[in-house]
Amino acid sequence: MTQNSKAGTQSVWAGEKDYLVHGATQVPVVLSVAYGYDDMDEWYDVAIGKKKGHIYGRNTNPTVQAFEDKVKILEGAEAATSFSTGMAAISNTLSTFLVPGDRIVSIKDTYGGTNKIFTEFLPRQQVEVVLCETGNHEQIEEEVAKGCSILYLETPTNPTVKITDIERMAKAGREAGALVVVDNTFGTPINQNPLALGADLVIHSATKFLGGHADALGGVVCGSAELVEKIYHFREINGATMDPMAAYLILRGMKTLKLRVRQQSENAMALAKFLETQELVEGVYYPGLETHPNHEIAKKQMRGFGGMLSFAVKGGVETVRDLLPKLQYANRAANLGAVETTVGPARTTSHVECTPEERAAMGIPEGLIRISCGIEDIEDIIADFEQAFQYVESGLKV
Ligand SMILES: Cc1ncc(COP(=O)(O)O)c(C=O)c1O
Repeated sequence: MTQNSKAGTQSVWAGEKDYLVHGATQVPVVLSVAYGYDDMDEWYDVAIGKKKGHIYGRNTNPTVQAFEDKVKILEGAEAATSFSTGMAAISNTLSTFLVPGDRIVSIKDTYGGTNKIFTEFLPRQQVEVVLCETGNHEQIEEEVAKGCSILYLETPTNPTVKITDIERMAKAGREAGALVVVDNTFGTPINQNPLALGADLVIHSATKFLGGHADALGGVVCGSAELVEKIYHFREINGATMDPMAAYLILRGMKTLKLRVRQQSENAMALAKFLETQELVEGVYYPGLETHPNHEIAKKQMRGFGGMLSFAVKGGVETVRDLLPKLQYANRAANLGAVETTVGPARTTSHVECTPEERAAMGIPEGLIRISCGIEDIEDIIADFEQAFQYVESGLKV
């Protein structure tokens, strides 16, 4: 693995060599909970971190480490540590650094679960949370300049794919002495590297695009060795450890990360353009469209616009109810990033935890449908949506 290998090569090769045994070409799933030592001094040295090795599965595991190493290299980070889910990665990272009396600045449009941490749990711990209008860079800069410990961003956002300028925000964070954390789940390391744009930490729900097959939960955070060590310590004690089987599945999924994300990004672009032509569609949200308010920022910081898009339908929830069951090539499910196209109303999926009023305040119409594009042939997907629209339109009373 050379230093300047590209993401497609890294997805296949990176991080694996040290974990291969018996001449195997694939990383094994090590299910052992504990690791035995005959030499008491060696055991002690590994236990205190003086020597490399494993002690107990809640702390480290070879399969899990191979996964961490691959993501670390793809994100251009010094270190990475993993978690049982993406939410564990987010909550453990926040809990590592925030103490009562701290202030955190973020945006209104983060993933519903993250938003709940901001609105429900952090205030209970006497952490002041300031949620700015997503895309209002001046407001974020003003709030950050007032002083905060963390500036937390997600870009593109879930589900309306709003874009925040990472480089500009990282500068604001640095000037205020804040840690800049970016959830790159929608971006993926193929399309976007927040650390290279100045962020301190980058988080993924590995359940989504990294794994890509909707069969394993996981989360990961990457950054400097110093910061990641602190997060790892919090996690090893609090216990939200990634399962070795999940690590194996995600590691295997990641081998095709570039191919999948490239196809998903192409499919999303074509589908967004098709949706724009549809009578029943009120608005299409995709950063690759020139009509997207932050298209220029997306162009600057992303290498591809990603596989996520959303659209609002005329007739709101009623239309959603008629339209979605007609699709043949889409799972109607609360997930994203898989090889199959997946659709769902934001009110049932990403923002189910919010009230209709909270969703409205976030600019999420009740008739908003989120699409996670799969890797299918786009002609089939467009034809599928076409027939579903025709069905709904033929049944319209007006
Ligand atoms: C952007 C984003 N971040 C984090 C998460 C949480 O990930 P997980 O479901 O793996 O906990 C999600 C889940 O949908 C997400 O969309």
